Amino acid sequence: MAAGTATVTAAALVTDMVKLLGPERVFHKDVDLKTYTYDSSFVSQINNFTPEVVVMPTSTEEVSRIMRYADQHGVAVTPRGAGSGQTGGSVAVRGGIVMDLSAWDDIVEVDEVNMQVVVRPGVVHAELNNHISSYGLYFPPDPGSSEWATIGGMVANNASGLRAVKYGNTGQYVLGLEVVMPDGQVIRTGGLKSKALKSVSGLNLTGLFLASEGTLGVITEVRLKVWPKPPSRAIVVAYFDRLEDAAQSVLEVFKAGILPSGIEILDDGAIRSVNLFKPQLKLPEVEAAIFFEVNGSKAATEDEGRQIEEIAKRRAGSVEMATDAKRMKELWTGRQAIGAASARAKPNAARIFAGEDVCFPMAKVPEALRRIKEIGREHDTMVVIYGHIGDGNMHTAPIIDPLKPEEVEAAQRVAEDIHRLALEIGGATTGEHGVGFVRAAFMEEEHGAALTVMRRIKDCLDPKGIMNPGKIWAEE
Ligand code: LAC
Ligand code: ZN
Repeated sequence: MAAGTATVTAAALVTDMVKLLGPERVFHKDVDLKTYTYDSSFVSQINNFTPEVVVMPTSTEEVSRIMRYADQHGVAVTPRGAGSGQTGGSVAVRGGIVMDLSAWDDIVEVDEVNMQVVVRPGVVHAELNNHISSYGLYFPPDPGSSEWATIGGMVANNASGLRAVKYGNTGQYVLGLEVVMPDGQVIRTGGLKSKALKSVSGLNLTGLFLASEGTLGVITEVRLKVWPKPPSRAIVVAYFDRLEDAAQSVLEVFKAGILPSGIEILDDGAIRSVNLFKPQLKLPEVEAAIFFEVNGSKAATEDEGRQIEEIAKRRAGSVEMATDAKRMKELWTGRQAIGAASARAKPNAARIFAGEDVCFPMAKVPEALRRIKEIGREHDTMVVIYGHIGDGNMHTAPIIDPLKPEEVEAAQRVAEDIHRLALEIGGATTGEHGVGFVRAAFMEEEHGAALTVMRRIKDCLDPKGIMNPGKIWAEE
């Protein structure tokens, strides 16, 4: 059977999908299915969540037909973009169909004057920005995995990343969506013909699909607000001997009335990894570095850059300000690479993604950073800290030998303790990567009665439970 409640065999499911899409965009051989058993999360890599079939629709009509079929036959459907997610959100934990939308990557419209674009779900973040930059526009959220994350996945996870401190999450840019509902019905949120940049007409259905992680429907088109591209930017990097000073310095920059377009922290392990990965960067190896990015006019970025330099100098051992395009690109690329490069912090080790993107209240960040280091030590596990300190959203990467069960076990305990810390001090278990199935266990504690309301919405929109089952809501 294709899924828990499916009324078709796997063989019949494959035959029927070929009838709907033709043989070219339907995959069922073991070797093909294997590549869909994981995303970037460690837990998906050590399990084997194999779908019965993978389909690659490239039109709303095709998605709708597949959903109508799945509804009739009780088959689970897991929508998927590029698989850059880190919480197992796009793996089929209950089998059935994986709907790979990555090939459906048309930029349907760029409306320069109305400052908006319409894209299909498979468009890659960096490609969208490359495309619209010739119009003087840009889409500010930058998930770090810009070169492969898809817009559909970013919307489904309400992704944010390196520029959220100033520009917020993906959701703040979504003006409307086309969604295929679990029974195949096609709806448009945000107004059927709307090109308005704002609307408060009716319930906020767009908001319902943000961070729904494919559990309520399939996002088939996205209308996004985009902004004029700032002509200039500057990066100030400050190097601190103590983590706490780095965190305090961020608060002091805000106090001075400056809102940088990015504020990223790299702890000692992260700095070392970046230096090993890109030796030309030559970052001083101190306990913490902060990258402050400002953007705007040339005069404004130079002025704000200088002000940040002065503020940071009160606590930092050294400060570097870069306005040269080459150096800025080098620094930013180094930062973006940490996710993978952090494995280099320890010989013969790997960086696993155990779902760590907790978000702390700003006032608690200094103490939380120290506590994370202690948690690592308590479990004898190296933890590399980096990420979006400007909004308290921290990555805490366990660096382990994944072939040693005791190290895997310890890393899982580290992740668990860090999640508990976030909840204890009034933070969130996930600031940007989503719940998937790795965080499902925390949802009751985090949301209380609100979780019951979420479940009711889910049951109402997807009564047969076929949309990406096994995610967000811990099931019996
Ligand atoms: C980043 C991803 C891990 O910030 O969210 O690099
Ligand atoms: Zn991030």
